[in-house]
Amino acid sequence: MQTKVIVVMSPKGGVGKTTVAVNLATAISSLKKKTLLIDANIDTPHVAVYYGFVGFKYSFEDLLNGNATIKDVIYTGDDPNFHILPSRVDNDTDELAKKKLVNMEKHLKLLEGIYDFIIIDSKPSYNIDFIENLKNAESIIVSNPEITSIIEAKKIKEKLDYSKIDIIGLILNKVNTRIREQVTKKEAEDMTGIQNIWRIREDQRVYLALKQGIPIVTCASKSPASLDIINIAKDVIKM
Ligand SMILES: Nc1ncnc2c1ncn2[C@@H]1O[C@H](COP(=O)(O)OP(=O)(O)OP(=O)(O)O)[C@@H](O)[C@H]1O
Ligand SMILES: [Mg+2]
Repeated sequence: MQTKVIVVMSPKGGVGKTTVAVNLATAISSLKKKTLLIDANIDTPHVAVYYGFVGFKYSFEDLLNGNATIKDVIYTGDDPNFHILPSRVDNDTDELAKKKLVNMEKHLKLLEGIYDFIIIDSKPSYNIDFIENLKNAESIIVSNPEITSIIEAKKIKEKLDYSKIDIIGLILNKVNTRIREQVTKKEAEDMTGIQNIWRIREDQRVYLALKQGIPIVTCASKSPASLDIINIAKDVIKM
């Protein structure tokens, strides 16, 4: 089985990377694809919060620091197709683990052939060292439908192109159909040169889902953002 490794990234913070990574991974696994979601944003890790997942013993930091094995840090959810590798939510950033993040490929290697998809949430950064060190990893860029966010998406796109890392698409997240002044898909395509553009509507149930600790695609599967993310998951599976 060839595993598709997708890093969800954006230079700008708060655009919706974690929301996308969590819900895309959950949607893909519910489409019967074996999926691992990794929280590699070890500065401000929140993936576990989206699942109300607390009290786990070993985290990604333990793996990076050599204090746990890959088996120790992977947890199974209600859906047997869904596995999660969380980072520690409550502690300060583990600086040692942070330095070892560039070695992540050696851990992913041990998972070869086990998963259809590995979805990786990342920290906001222009630094593409992280993805460069992952063999065959592809990227999804997340942006908001506003000019400043698109400008940053374009910059990271250029860096990824330079390093020959595939961009499978750009997601415009928090689209409000009543605000005509927001950047459209066509404008985003013209500005970034990325042809495959998806959108996710702004949806207040995203906040509710987070409070409940259940991904929105599970707890409000018919809500606008969920429908958009499920469609993206179906497209990603076909790629
Ligand atoms: N489609 C949406 N509709 C409404 N709110 C959203 C949507 N997507 C994300 N949000 C909200 O926007 C905020 C930022 O989302 P999120 O944490 O996913 O961004 P991020 O890019 O991962 O942030 P960071 O850079 O800090 O890791 C959160 O409060 C989240 O609930
Ligand atoms: Mg995040």
